[in-house]
Amino acid sequence: MGNIINGKEVSDKIRESMSAQIEEFKNKTGVVPRLEVVLVGEDPASQVYVRSKEKACAKLGMESKTHRLPESTKQEQLVDLVRTLNKDKKVHGILVQLPLPKGINATKVLDEISPEKDVDGLHPYNMGKLLKGEDPLFVSCTPQGIIELIKTTGVPIKGAEVVVVGRSNIVGKPVALLLLQQHATVTICHSRTKDLGEVTRRADILIVSVGSPQIVKGDMIKKGAVVIDVGVNRLSDKLVGDVDFESAKEVASFITPVPRGVGPMTIAMLLKNTFLAAQRGVK
Ligand code: GUN
Repeated sequence: MGNIINGKEVSDKIRESMSAQIEEFKNKTGVVPRLEVVLVGEDPASQVYVRSKEKACAKLGMESKTHRLPESTKQEQLVDLVRTLNKDKKVHGILVQLPLPKGINATKVLDEISPEKDVDGLHPYNMGKLLKGEDPLFVSCTPQGIIELIKTTGVPIKGAEVVVVGRSNIVGKPVALLLLQQHATVTICHSRTKDLGEVTRRADILIVSVGSPQIVKGDMIKKGAVVIDVGVNRLSDKLVGDVDFESAKEVASFITPVPRGVGPMTIAMLLKNTFLAAQRGVK
């Protein structure tokens, strides 16, 4: 049976090491790093995520505010709010929680966020820099967290066959680019991939982020592979990932569980990005 990667523990360590740095920064500059989150509608998973972001900020002595807006909010109102937050010097990081309700063009809203405050790394400037292999101001949080988790295994990324299942802007594409930059051979699969198992079985490192409960089974994984499961799916009585943990853990050398795998790392990286934004703001 493979080793279970404890994302909660890794994330706690990162937060601990940031805690003293933030305290020192606040004492020196009088500035308190501040994240503002925009949450539209009643999506239950988003409500939970946003609560954990608020709690995580408070625990590290950072400020946060969530703008909770009704499902009926118009795109123009969101754009106005983002523009106001862009101008507010006390706000270092802006995060518009996804998904946005139907009828709102998420791109139109996200593209309004100032690249300097884009702690989600979704602005075309930041994504473009990542694509070019240049330094973006921010890289989205989950991909950064995934890289940190892979590093804890000691398995080299350079030269590895990496398969990413999922091509979202927030996880699949950026994680593939980060790994490519670190000299992995990267393949991206998605819903139209003809024989998913045939491709995933090539992976030394397999990253799954599609939002389909337990779509990747043990027989689709090469023996000894590192398996990173980004999925969080609510079945009637429990949370499960996109990987069938029970069969996968028998073949993987390292595997992330759901929950307590990738999720806590996303939040740690969001805190890191927000602190980075605040540090840049005082220079
Ligand atoms: N919804 C689920 N995960 C995320 C995330 O990392 N950022 C944003 N903005 N929305 C999300």
